[in-house]
Amino acid sequence: MLQQLEQIQKQASEELEKINDPKELQLWKVRYLGRKSRLTRVLRSLATLPLEERRKIGVRGNEVKNILESSLAEREKILEEARIASSLKYKKLDVTLPGQPLSVGRLHPITQTLEEICDIFKGMGFQVVEGPDVEWDYYNFEALNIPQEHPARDMFATLWVDAEVGSGKARLLRTHTSPVQIRLMEEKRPPIRVVVPGRCYRYEATDATHESMFYQVEGLAIDKNITMADLKGTLVEFCRCLFGEERKIRFRCDYFPFVEPGAEVAIECLACHGAGCRVCGYTGWLEILGAGMVHPDVLRRGDIDPDVYSGFAFGMGVERMPMLRYGIDDIRLFYGNDLRFLKQF
Ligand code: DAH
Repeated sequence: MLQQLEQIQKQASEELEKINDPKELQLWKVRYLGRKSRLTRVLRSLATLPLEERRKIGVRGNEVKNILESSLAEREKILEEARIASSLKYKKLDVTLPGQPLSVGRLHPITQTLEEICDIFKGMGFQVVEGPDVEWDYYNFEALNIPQEHPARDMFATLWVDAEVGSGKARLLRTHTSPVQIRLMEEKRPPIRVVVPGRCYRYEATDATHESMFYQVEGLAIDKNITMADLKGTLVEFCRCLFGEERKIRFRCDYFPFVEPGAEVAIECLACHGAGCRVCGYTGWLEILGAGMVHPDVLRRGDIDPDVYSGFAFGMGVERMPMLRYGIDDIRLFYGNDLRFLKQF
């Protein structure tokens, strides 16, 4: 039997040397290492041999098997290398062919608008800061004079994160950027002049003018002797920068629980220049932001003395700006990821 093993090894090695084709290699494997090969038969018959012989032939048999397996692997490697070398020899690389053009990315129109808005305020000495998207009821509502059961909560269809809806300790997805006002007052001492860009969320059925996620930019200025005149001057300058020098701007009274007095700012309609059309609902005006003088109770919650300091605040929706400017009639286009739309900006 030992002799037989030597013979198998010799014959297999000789044959293997001559193989240059993967298919033949496969056949060789079946012939010498397969279930019905001579080697396998020898190894299977071990059980029938007397102990002494079984040990000798077993050891040698396994050695032969290992040798054949590693020679096979080596041969496979040689054939693979030869295949790669020959394929390269015939496919010459033409370095003069034009390459695949890389498509250049761009900033999302909303990102562009956010940058533009923030740049205008930076030019007036405002700092840009951010706050968290997941917010406490306290900051989003209570500290802004919107306690539980306050009817103003109805204006904000809220997405709650915690189950204890309506308690000051419940978390929610912020419905506006105003909560960052409180966080800032807690953290900084006046003078404060900041703008806060960020995402907001509301539980809305989406349509052409409503999305459940949208952007706002909040503004806050607190110092000694800040008056409504500062608020008007700042916002008029902002509107002129964004919508043009000639644009008419209107301030009217409005109510927001966290400011007193509160105002609503509108610009002359971009589509009809005040004549009245579908875009402005035939009023000639487009409302673009809410604003007001920070309520004394809100200042107190931020540990700022309203007898010494005063401030103004404002908040605007961001999507509306490019919609008005470019005549985009559906807010959902911004978040539909359709490159045909996004590439136009
Ligand atoms: N947070 C308000 C909203 O989402 C907008 C707003 C109004 C912000 C008046 C202000 C403000 O800072 O003073 O409807």
